[in-house]
Amino acid sequence: MSEISYVIKYDLNQTVEEAYNVLRANIQFCESSKKITTLAVTSYSPGEGKSTTSINLGISMAKAGMKVLYVDADIRKPMPFKYFMSTNLKGLTNYILGQAELNEIINKTDIDGFDFITCGIKTNNPVELITSDRFSNLIREVRQIYDTVIIDTPPLGSVIDAAIIAAQVDGTIIVIEANAVRCQNALRMKEQLVKANANILGAVLNKISKSEYKNYYGSYDYYNSRKKYMKKWSQLIKNLKSLKRGEYD
Ligand SMILES: Nc1ncnc2c1ncn2[C@@H]1O[C@H](COP(=O)(O)OP(=O)(O)OP(=O)(O)O)[C@@H](O)[C@H]1O
Ligand SMILES: [Mg+2]
Repeated sequence: MSEISYVIKYDLNQTVEEAYNVLRANIQFCESSKKITTLAVTSYSPGEGKSTTSINLGISMAKAGMKVLYVDADIRKPMPFKYFMSTNLKGLTNYILGQAELNEIINKTDIDGFDFITCGIKTNNPVELITSDRFSNLIREVRQIYDTVIIDTPPLGSVIDAAIIAAQVDGTIIVIEANAVRCQNALRMKEQLVKANANILGAVLNKISKSEYKNYYGSYDYYNSRKKYMKKWSQLIKNLKSLKRGEYD
């Protein structure tokens, strides 16, 4: 592993940090029969918050004493400095192409227990790479080392990568940007994941405003006071949650 320990900018306010802690707890307790070690995070559209959710969730887990690896598998947009000020140019694609060993692509951070792998160099054949034995080997190897491996993927509304990855991990989380994605598209994405035999753990409703958040969690008069659209999104999340692996078989 690289000797450098990268500094992570982590200055969430208490409410936001608590939201990630709740997400962590929900994942830890969602399937008692099967431990969720490898986790894919996806969304329908770009920019809904997959990476933000993956990283903050990973940090929340690390702060709770877990050993966590974040893997940037959005290899169509290879930007090694996207989220971390990493000087290590070797990442996931370099490993898959046999240009680097596992210990050369794992980076440490100043947050104890939180390591990351960047996406690596750009390639012309992303699907070939994530369907390769080297990629499944990597997943197999890192799950022996870490309590949780969080795999950040490209948006499923644009490319198939997330479904391929979701099929190889223990659980998948869907990030939905409130008021930005049509219910129909979110459900279409869910069907695609179910067809790929993904184990959908649930959805994260992201980027809700402070007042909406308060409306959702802060009021005892919740059922009377929530706005109309919240009903729609709650229903969507219920639909996403109720469908598990195999229900489409
Ligand atoms: N809960 C949130 N509240 C406010 N801003 C957010 C939230 N989540 C993400 N963002 C912001 O939205 C933008 C996109 O987030 P992010 O990069 O995590 O999305 P993404 O789904 O990974 O995007 P891409 O598909 O391009 O990889 C960033 O500027 C990020 O800071
Ligand atoms: Mg991203």
